[in-house]
Amino acid sequence: MKAIILAGGTGSRLYPLTIVTGKQLLPVYDKPMIYYPLSTLMLAGTRDIRIVTTWDDLQKYQELLGNGSGFGVSLSYAIQEEPHGIAEAFLLSEDFARNEACALILGDNIFYGSGLSGMLLRAAQNAENGEATVFGYYVNDPERFGVMEFDDDWNVLSVEEKPVHPKSNYCITGLYFYPKDVTEKAKNILPSQRGELEITSINEWYLQEKRLKAQILGRGFSWRDAGTPDSLLEAGKFVQMIEKQQGVLISAPEEIAFRKGWISRETLLAAADKYGNSSYGQHLRKVADGSLRY
Ligand code: DAU
Repeated sequence: MKAIILAGGTGSRLYPLTIVTGKQLLPVYDKPMIYYPLSTLMLAGTRDIRIVTTWDDLQKYQELLGNGSGFGVSLSYAIQEEPHGIAEAFLLSEDFARNEACALILGDNIFYGSGLSGMLLRAAQNAENGEATVFGYYVNDPERFGVMEFDDDWNVLSVEEKPVHPKSNYCITGLYFYPKDVTEKAKNILPSQRGELEITSINEWYLQEKRLKAQILGRGFSWRDAGTPDSLLEAGKFVQMIEKQQGVLISAPEEIAFRKGWISRETLLAAADKYGNSSYGQHLRKVADGSLRY
């Protein structure tokens, strides 16, 4: 199973914050935004990860994340010259994911909640077995998102991108698990009226083939995209609240890697040294000495 983090785009809704840096490098409380989607993919068990970004940010990501060995994963990079749409991530990663089941996460999407790992592992397994999975979340303003409609048994009836009259309040979050024919599908979709290769077109295709599953993230979950000043601040406040209340950090990729047995204690401690005396470094040291059990 492969996975892609889409970390391109202009971030124009966050100007001037994103004039000299990509959005997905901005801080969400105590860590760079991209640590959150990276953690989500790692919880899904994916270790072969492609980051799609811009020329301007490539070097910064390489400096921050390297080849992934510090996180127990393999990272490779591809460039998206212009934001031609989310589904373009598959075209730019053809060398990497062709004929392979592949997950895709948007680099500004932050997922948190009990039971998430199990849902992610099931979605990855479904993708290997030929079925796509999307994750639904109840929102007040569905017209801002991809939206799905359900029948009484929670089967998906329709998917629409930013509908003027949404058929439900369930938005499709920016995390997708696809079977191995996804690259071929991406090659065969047409740009939408706004000129983008829409991820919704791929979802629609799987729906027509009766191969689209929806997993609802219930009220106990937090999901957000951190693409506007308000949502970025709210994401930071949310992470701060959880971390302060419980006294532990969330979405630390090195911790996930260590708990999954993907990196040794020595590698974890080397990462902790790199982060010095920050709360992040201290957290990794506690994980390494076994004093955090939860
Ligand atoms: O966040 C969930 C929503 O994400 C979904 O519900 C929608 O179906 C999906 O289209 C998308 O909607 P957005 O309006 O949030 O898409 P946006 O164009 O803002 O892009 C989302 C992220 O992906 C953003 O961080 C920038 C990045 N991106 C986007 C495009 C179009 C790229 O890196 N390259 C691109 O070409």
